[in-house]
Amino acid sequence: MARQLTFRIFRYDPSDPGSKPGFVDYKLEETPRLNLFVALHRIREQQAPDLQFDFVCRAGVCGSCGMMINGRPTLGCRTLTAELPTTITLAPMPAFKLIGDLSVDTGTWFRGMSERVESWIHTQKKFDPTAEEERMDNETAEKIYELDRCIECGCCVAGCGTANIREDFLGATALNRIGRFMLDPRDERDSEDWFELVSTDEGVFGCMGLMGCDDVCPKELPLLEVFAYMRRRMTEVARGKAKPDAGTCLPVIN
Ligand code: SF4
Ligand code: SF4
Ligand code: FES
Repeated sequence: MARQLTFRIFRYDPSDPGSKPGFVDYKLEETPRLNLFVALHRIREQQAPDLQFDFVCRAGVCGSCGMMINGRPTLGCRTLTAELPTTITLAPMPAFKLIGDLSVDTGTWFRGMSERVESWIHTQKKFDPTAEEERMDNETAEKIYELDRCIECGCCVAGCGTANIREDFLGATALNRIGRFMLDPRDERDSEDWFELVSTDEGVFGCMGLMGCDDVCPKELPLLEVFAYMRRRMTEVARGKAKPDAGTCLPVIN
């Protein structure tokens, strides 16, 4: 017999002065292979036409459907109700500005992060549009790709105690992005250039290392290893031992 599911959903519209935050229950009969993407659309079609949530790709690629599912930041589109108990509590991810109900503004947060990290290749080389594309060895390209798989879903930020209490904390996704540029031989920033941003409490030394981010990352990025590597490099800079090309040998991304 099909299970009767109760979706306990956080409802609040910050743009409506009459709206009060709270949880509202919606009932739904479970169907085979039901995931939260389908379940929330059914609830919106049949019971709550003004319910706000975000889905785009439905395939774990766009990163728009992060939400707190029974207290854990997770992608809604990749979550089957069969994996959950019959009462499913859904809330918006903390650390991001609430748009309404389950929808949060991760875009502004990630744009701010990209600007702080200066998330582009820094080089003194003059761009020549007629030049042949520079080659990169496969091993380096694969290591960069491993970190580039981040879909900017925000689950690691929502699951991070430090990011939730300190707005200035870079967070796992920014540190991962920095690791990605450290690996890239086209980027001419060296350890000393990164030191001011990364070696502070806002950076890798503000991280408590409890690895909530690593636990919840839906793409299973090697965040733990990236942080360990970064700590070591920053410590080397402090001791005056850093080599400018050290970023090309992140040892943990095999
Ligand atoms: S390990 Fe660091 S970045 Fe990850 S959740 Fe903990 S404090 Fe946040
Ligand atoms: S590091 Fe993982 S959890 Fe964090 S934004 Fe990227 S994909 Fe999402
Ligand atoms: S809808 Fe794109 S990741 Fe879930």
